[in-house]
Amino acid sequence: MVGLKISSTVWVFVLGAVASGFDLNNFDQLDAAKRSPDKRIVIRDLFVPAGKTLELTDLQPGTVIEFSGRVTFGYQEWDGFMVRLRGKNIRVEGKPGNLLDVEGHRWWDGKGGNGGRKKPRFMQVTLDDSIVVGLNIKNTPKDCFIVNSSHNLRVDRINIDIKDGDKKGGHNTDGFGVSGSRNVTVSNCQVHNQDDCFATTSGSDTIFENSKCTGGHGISVGSMGAGKVVERLTVRNCRILANSNGIRIKTRRGETGAVRDITFENIELKDIRQYGIVIQGNYYNSGPKGDPTPFPIHNLVVNNVHGTVSRKGTNILIWVDPGSVSNWKWNSNVSGGQKELGCKGVPSGLNIRCGKK
Ligand SMILES: *[C@@H]1O[C@H](CO)[C@@H](O)[C@H](O)[C@H]1NC(C)=O
Ligand SMILES: *[C@@H]1O[C@H](CO)[C@@H](O)[C@H](O)[C@H]1NC(C)=O
Ligand SMILES: *[C@@H]1O[C@H](CO)[C@@H](O)[C@H](O)[C@H]1NC(C)=O
Repeated sequence: MVGLKISSTVWVFVLGAVASGFDLNNFDQLDAAKRSPDKRIVIRDLFVPAGKTLELTDLQPGTVIEFSGRVTFGYQEWDGFMVRLRGKNIRVEGKPGNLLDVEGHRWWDGKGGNGGRKKPRFMQVTLDDSIVVGLNIKNTPKDCFIVNSSHNLRVDRINIDIKDGDKKGGHNTDGFGVSGSRNVTVSNCQVHNQDDCFATTSGSDTIFENSKCTGGHGISVGSMGAGKVVERLTVRNCRILANSNGIRIKTRRGETGAVRDITFENIELKDIRQYGIVIQGNYYNSGPKGDPTPFPIHNLVVNNVHGTVSRKGTNILIWVDPGSVSNWKWNSNVSGGQKELGCKGVPSGLNIRCGKK
């Protein structure tokens, strides 16, 4: 809209004089939208056909993508991504009331990625110098928001609502996964799901903050192995409610890699079912097994992590190779769990109530 001032008091507004973007409400016009000269794609009430990826890739640098209305997806059993975002200097913005309504219940069978119906992952994000803000994502078939090979990315105000999966067979519905990236900040988000709320398996300078996790498996580093490194990760000012775990670091038996410069700060736990805080060096296949093997975990800060574990759970479990962890700082108050498990490798001189009620 352009305002023309024709006298000192009267303004005339010319609607539509400024290009308002390419209105993408028909999937067949995706390529045309990407070439649109004003670099603005408005995705409104779009239906993405079954088995197709909404390929928001090969974008012109500087492109703005707006989501508005309700975006829906056809049903097919397949293992692709339903949405892919790739580019540099991109802004992805959810307008008020937007909904990516994925209707995952059509795939849910309680088996997640372990069998049953083949399920697509929702969104893969590979963006540099970009921002993704304000999306409402509902009921993904399994993993939701996967950040891979991104640099200088800000993810803000994403609401991942998969609470229907609690009763309808949602499984492996991971919220945010970040790997192979540098300088990714995820802030002000909400996740209600049935797997990790936020997980990272490699990368540096990652922040997850000011967010709330409900119902899932907590905030995870790992499982680590295959020589991968997680360094300079900060998780702060988060609430983790009714998850199976609060915060955890898991490294795989007999594998290499490193975890260093990790801070968990100002985290509230509530009604955690299994472990409030767990650091385990003996992952094997999908579960812990036997003695931990060497895996460096250096410069770990746990500061003001507090709250409650349910009666049947364990407040803190540390089970790591004694020689391979160093320079930890610890200040936590996790209580309520009555199950005592032995701890191993706890660095000396720290006030950690490990293996105790
Ligand atoms: C991340 O991207 C790289 C290259 O683009 C690819 O090889 C790798 O498989 C991806 N990882 C995941 C988890 O998608
Ligand atoms: C990290 O990414 C943000 C964008 O999210 C950018 O503003 C900032 O300059 C980046 N920092 C570095 C050190 O590159
Ligand atoms: C630890 O938390 C419990 C209950 O959550 C509280 O009663 C207690 O005062 C706290 N202790 C410290 C040292 O903050």
